[in-house]
Amino acid sequence: MTQPPESITRMLKSQGQEHLLDFYASLDEQQQESLVQQLEMINFQQMQKLIGQEHHEDSTSTDSIQPPVIYPTLPEDHQRYRDIGVEMIRAGKVAPFTVAGGQGTRLGWNGPKGAFPATVLTGKPLFRVFAEQILAIESRYDVSLTWYIMTSPINDDDTRAFFTDNNHFGLDPQQVVFFQQGVLPSIDGDGRMLLAQKDHVAVNPDGHGGSLLALAVSGSLEHMRARGIEQISYFQVDNPLVHVLDPLFIGLHVAAKDSSGQISSKMIPKRDPGEKVGVLCMVDGKTRVIEYSDIDPGIAAETDENGRLRLRAGSIGIHMMSVEFVEHLTRNPDDFALPFHMAHKKVPYIDLDSGELVQPEQPNATKFEAFVFDAIPLADSSIVYETVRVEEFAPIKNASGEDSPESSHQLQSDRAGLWLEAAGCTVQRDGDGHVTSRIEIKASTAIEAGDLRDVELPESISDGEEVLL
Ligand code: UTP
Repeated sequence: MTQPPESITRMLKSQGQEHLLDFYASLDEQQQESLVQQLEMINFQQMQKLIGQEHHEDSTSTDSIQPPVIYPTLPEDHQRYRDIGVEMIRAGKVAPFTVAGGQGTRLGWNGPKGAFPATVLTGKPLFRVFAEQILAIESRYDVSLTWYIMTSPINDDDTRAFFTDNNHFGLDPQQVVFFQQGVLPSIDGDGRMLLAQKDHVAVNPDGHGGSLLALAVSGSLEHMRARGIEQISYFQVDNPLVHVLDPLFIGLHVAAKDSSGQISSKMIPKRDPGEKVGVLCMVDGKTRVIEYSDIDPGIAAETDENGRLRLRAGSIGIHMMSVEFVEHLTRNPDDFALPFHMAHKKVPYIDLDSGELVQPEQPNATKFEAFVFDAIPLADSSIVYETVRVEEFAPIKNASGEDSPESSHQLQSDRAGLWLEAAGCTVQRDGDGHVTSRIEIKASTAIEAGDLRDVELPESISDGEEVLL
């Protein structure tokens, strides 16, 4: 083949993207085919709309941003909601869902983020951490779970191979359902798509919000329906402290008076006004997340009558959502309900004059991504559940500093210390309240604090000790 298909040439011309074929004649047949296949997959009409959209500025008047109602409101209701959640789990109506399609650029790890060694002493990879929790939940509630994992073209092969090489961490391979999210081309300042290679358009995964679309397009929603799964427990791959299924949260989501059962969110109080997490809030009677960069620093720093941040509900990427709601949002895959946001990033590209690969030092391109939390205001109503940072949020995002393996290890040991203390063990802490030993608790030993009541524990744990339970 020496000429590209006429239909492709016409489409590219009409869209001002014909430069994507600049190197076509120099490619071998296989490369030509691969480029044509990729071009056929791109939804140029959708891209035209995205390229034409104005940069999304948040138009919310800051006066109208109110804190959300925080659940659970009454501690005496906990047991009732927990029981409802346990019933849902036992009946096989809830599935864990991990979004693992991201590029993980900040961490700089060569491989899927889920393969990153995350735990304090044994360095278990994130995927194993979740798999072992799933196994523990299955045996506790006498149920077989299906675990849905979203990958992207960047890491799909490697992720599947990692599971195969690790014997699916003891799960039956049938229980683990992988599917890929979509990708969107990156564009330069003139709205022209970039070539990552002479035979490959530069694309990026379409954001964690793309997971909702991918659940539909991949057939996973139908797969869930066929298994009687009604609710999805959504979490991100980079948080080793997440409770993959949380009975209390599930119970609140399906049964709390103000919950539509469509989508609910977990929050933790922000550490300080500048912490880089989105904020769950109410705007015009609807719950939604406002990104930290969209909130005026003065408003972010406002305090209430108790001296706490007024807008303190930090969003941690943990949601419950119903299969029905995701079906509703994705009914027309060509007109996805969530907006795409633009982000300016460094994207390596082939220079059209020299044919050489350029590694830009400054952001040179726009990527389009959907955010899962944009689904929240589309629900009839949506509740926010407050949890404790050390109990469930220790993300690994950066190679060092904040949200790094080091900070995550500290939080993991801190949580283990808390659980041990609740069971009567004395644990040394420093002046800032951090545990001064390194403690790792296996999911087969405990998946929540109360489980340690029946475990033989040391009386005390001293400075610098390493304890694996
Ligand atoms: P982040 O926003 O932290 O992005 O993703 P990232 O790709 O992991 O890391 P950076 O920003 O490149 O350093 C939060 C979660 O959403 C998933 C990630 O895998 C992670 O679990 N995600 C993100 C996707 O699944 N797909 C995407 O397109 C983006």
